[in-house]
Amino acid sequence: MKSSLLIPPAVRADGAFSRPPEASLTWTDPVTGHQGFLVIDRLVRGLSSGGLRMRQGCTYEEVRDLAAGMSVKEALHYDPSNRYLPMGGAKGGIDCDPHSDEARGVLSRFLAFIRPYVDQHWATGDDLGTTTELIEEVLGELGVEGCIAPVVRTLDDPAAARKRFAEAFAVDVDGIALAELVGGCGVAEAVLTVLDRDGVPRPSATAAVQGFGAMGGATARFLAAAGIRVVAISDVHGTVANPRGLAVEDMLHHRGAFGSIDRGRLGPDDILLDRDDCLSFPTDVLVPAATSYTIHEANQARVAARYVVEAANVPVTAAAEQELRRRGCVVIPDVVANSGTNAWWWWTLFGDVAPGAAASLAKVRGSLRALVTETLEFAGEAVCTPREAARHIADARRELLLHRLGER
Ligand SMILES: NC(=O)c1ccc[n+]([C@@H]2O[C@H](COP(=O)([O-])OP(=O)(O)OC[C@H]3O[C@@H](n4cnc5c(N)ncnc54)[C@H](O)[C@@H]3O)[C@@H](O)[C@H]2O)c1
Repeated sequence: MKSSLLIPPAVRADGAFSRPPEASLTWTDPVTGHQGFLVIDRLVRGLSSGGLRMRQGCTYEEVRDLAAGMSVKEALHYDPSNRYLPMGGAKGGIDCDPHSDEARGVLSRFLAFIRPYVDQHWATGDDLGTTTELIEEVLGELGVEGCIAPVVRTLDDPAAARKRFAEAFAVDVDGIALAELVGGCGVAEAVLTVLDRDGVPRPSATAAVQGFGAMGGATARFLAAAGIRVVAISDVHGTVANPRGLAVEDMLHHRGAFGSIDRGRLGPDDILLDRDDCLSFPTDVLVPAATSYTIHEANQARVAARYVVEAANVPVTAAAEQELRRRGCVVIPDVVANSGTNAWWWWTLFGDVAPGAAASLAKVRGSLRALVTETLEFAGEAVCTPREAARHIADARRELLLHRLGER
């Protein structure tokens, strides 16, 4: 049994793939000198999916890693009973402070440069430092139909699909947009699945969340609602902690722009700590939900949790993950844990889920529970990491999809 599950040598434990991306480019802004990157890891039906991020310090390597991860996320969600036909993975990144005065101009010139891809091959959306609204606005000025136009064109009834999509994006659940909640709902379900499998009772389970933006905030909300004590949350300025549990909904209510915690509205017992103290606060679960590479060789020893469930993309470096694993810590990879957002966009557009909150959250929960269970079972049988298991499952599903599409 085990020999049939051997991981093929093409998949490496450090997160890289042996094959090069299908297309990649580095652009230098002629006005400011900022650089932008586009990596199309794979095309399926000529299409790829993945967000566009903007942050000071963004690198080509980061964008390449993220694009490869998107290919895995897409393939993992191939289900022949859905209408959604997964695409390849891609990612865009711009090395520029998104809050600077020059950011909008840089974004506009970058999108103008890569216009043929956005027009035909790359369905994109928000990521760190961007919003879908802003990207849509800039594309509109450039005369491009919109972020997801290449996919919409392939659908039988594009008008109905766009209507469903707009309806879903208008849904708000207790002050937070459904589109912002689905990702964290999936991450929380991944946490609950690993705890349930290991028999950790919810009332005694604790979690720390690094980052309090879209992903961190939503994950904290769903964890707290499920009865998990969220005892530490950090933002870019530091950590707020309370061993008896933080008042997550109050913190969300007073959350500032860019995911900042309002330190003037904390509970009397809440304590203020340094930013990385979030990692070492004693908990069962750590959810990194900030930027990429926040857990690295130099700080991985501080991680106290038994489970790291990745809400951010590539928050743990390959070297740090090896060390965590050696210490018995289970890392549920980003490509599985945070895949709910990407899948939900396409389920909604293709018509696999109605635009309301109840149906959407139920589908995210069901899919993530099944995916985490399958990943952990495979990892157990093949004696590999959950990340390797996820890639193997994705490769197998992609092959099925490509055969169905006649691309094999
Ligand atoms: N938004 C989504 O639906 C989605 C989906 C999948 C993956 N992701 C990934 O999740 C991550 C977070 O995305 P987001 O949309 O929540 O971003 P965001 O900008 O909304 O929030 C980022 C949060 O991280 C905090 N932060 C930044 N650096 C930090 C540090 N070193 N330590 C602690 N906190 C820090 C910020 O203060 C903020 O609270 C990114 O890697 C993104 O690619 C997001």
